[in-house]
Amino acid sequence: MNPSMPLLPERASSYAGEVDALFYFIVAVTVFFTVAVSLALVYFAIRYRRRSEDERPAEIHGSLALELAWTLIPLGIVVVMFVWGAKVFFHMNRPPDDAMTVSVVGKRWMWKLQHPTGQREINELHVPLGRAVKLVITSEDTIHSFFVPAFRIKKDAVPGRYNFAWFRATKTGSYHLFCAEYCGTEHSKMIGKVVVMEPEAYQTWLAGGPPPESPVVAGEKLFTELNCITCHRPDSAGRGPVLQGVFGRSIQLASGDTVVADEAYVRESIVNPAARVVAGYQPVMPTYQGQVSEEQLIALVAYIESLQVPTEAAPASDAAASR
Ligand code: CUA
Repeated sequence: MNPSMPLLPERASSYAGEVDALFYFIVAVTVFFTVAVSLALVYFAIRYRRRSEDERPAEIHGSLALELAWTLIPLGIVVVMFVWGAKVFFHMNRPPDDAMTVSVVGKRWMWKLQHPTGQREINELHVPLGRAVKLVITSEDTIHSFFVPAFRIKKDAVPGRYNFAWFRATKTGSYHLFCAEYCGTEHSKMIGKVVVMEPEAYQTWLAGGPPPESPVVAGEKLFTELNCITCHRPDSAGRGPVLQGVFGRSIQLASGDTVVADEAYVRESIVNPAARVVAGYQPVMPTYQGQVSEEQLIALVAYIESLQVPTEAAPASDAAASR
């Protein structure tokens, strides 16, 4: 981009260029047709103006070639926009497997962020340069929207569900973070920044401050405190399904459907357990709606994601003892 003509914010994420290229293409097409139609309008108005009181316009019969042209050319152009847009959309919505997961909770009127290693931040997010960062975004109250213009990210934070976004920062520096959904009187103050650091500086930053509790550890504690462990035993003798190795797998439900056990399904199963019961189990689990905060839910999900299948050689009782 020409820095003397800052039509768009700085580009600081790996796909910002893709988004801008598509945007400029759509703008160029729009400008071209606006100008072409306006000039044609003026030309025709002059060229075919009425020249005398009793002038009768000539009758016009259709032109197949002309009609095909003004149908097929715009069709081709919008198909290009659609396919190109879909490609960018898929790229923006599929985090790479090696991404580090940062949880984002919107709350009137602040952003609460947590790193995979447990560090918490408010209205500030420090990330390493060049590393893919996956954001799991939700809200505690009303709808907010996580907006970092320099990364070309804008994703709603919706209560009761997880939305995902990801980016790979390409430039060190500090970038604006906004809430882009009107959420109440202090919406305009719900701003912050994302600080992109060299990987070593990020490690130093992580090491500063009190030693944090990672979401996995916090989740494991909650799992015991809330007595989840009584029913979800690793040895399949409990009243609830075994959770080891479940995350990311396809699950057979009592209704006959299947579902992938992702963040959204695990969250739903905690706050609304009867919604989609696993095949072979009774809907006996109580709801934990209102008893666990969004941050605790994130910790529980992280813990369940971390549960691996006990190695096959080890008897089930050993696996239980090691918990
Ligand atoms: Cu949160 Cu606007």
